Amino acid sequence: MQTFRDLAALRECIGTWKRDGLRVGFVPTMGNLHAGHYALVELAQQHCDAVVASIFVNPTQFGPNEDYARYPRTEQRDADGLAQAGAAALFLPSVDVMYPFGAIGCVQMHVPGITDILCGAHRPGHFNGVATVVARLFNMVQPDCAVFGRKDYQQLQVIRYMAGELSFPVEIIPAPTLREPSGLAMSSRNQYLSDPERESATAIYRTLQQMRAACIAGVPVAQIERDAETALQALGFTVDYAEIRSAALAPASRAADNKRVALIAAFLGRTRLIDNLEFEIP
Ligand code: PAF
Repeated sequence: MQTFRDLAALRECIGTWKRDGLRVGFVPTMGNLHAGHYALVELAQQHCDAVVASIFVNPTQFGPNEDYARYPRTEQRDADGLAQAGAAALFLPSVDVMYPFGAIGCVQMHVPGITDILCGAHRPGHFNGVATVVARLFNMVQPDCAVFGRKDYQQLQVIRYMAGELSFPVEIIPAPTLREPSGLAMSSRNQYLSDPERESATAIYRTLQQMRAACIAGVPVAQIERDAETALQALGFTVDYAEIRSAALAPASRAADNKRVALIAAFLGRTRLIDNLEFEIP
């Protein structure tokens, strides 16, 4: 695996691949990688000839009270894992490479509507920061396809919308959520959990499954959401939301088809966990 911190050198390498007719895949990450990330690299390999992974802890997607400074930087371990997973190149841009005129006051993406709900409502500016860095990364890497996990369901929708509307010639490939045997969705943030919290955290997936069952049984969505929130609060969670929406994240009452997604975001102590479950109603 070749490692690049410099944009010109990365572009030269990718240019050579493209001239040789290779299809280039891309897996953007913020590092602190786990099996879920390596599965993204493996999925990218099934869709292309050479995979570029990036590690960049993006300051513009963290709110003022969030964990940007505390976010673990584990570069060497991540690089080893990516090489083992089969990445052909690793891009490690500095903040100066990503934001040459500074991250404050930089040219920003604003994806309207979808960024105002769910996590967007609780983390103002977060998805615009994500869209901003992903647009920059797409422009730098110029991949043919890029893989994003379904665990970050709203992020996936935001990126699809942005890439589609701006005509980025990038195929967006969603990857299934990897779970621990307990059902807990794999996440870099799980490592902040104490042992008892890790046990409690498994209630998120169980609650999503209960929300799905209730929705399929015809229980009104407002009641399902209330019950889910109450159940999680009783277990010690501070709930940002527990909602059922259409696959495109419209309110369930305005869904155009029978596809639904149940989504939860909740804090255990200081750790914010998100998860979701896609399903169809009969
Ligand atoms: O999902 C993530 O790790 C980040 O939001 C992403 C897509 C790498 C952008 O910084």
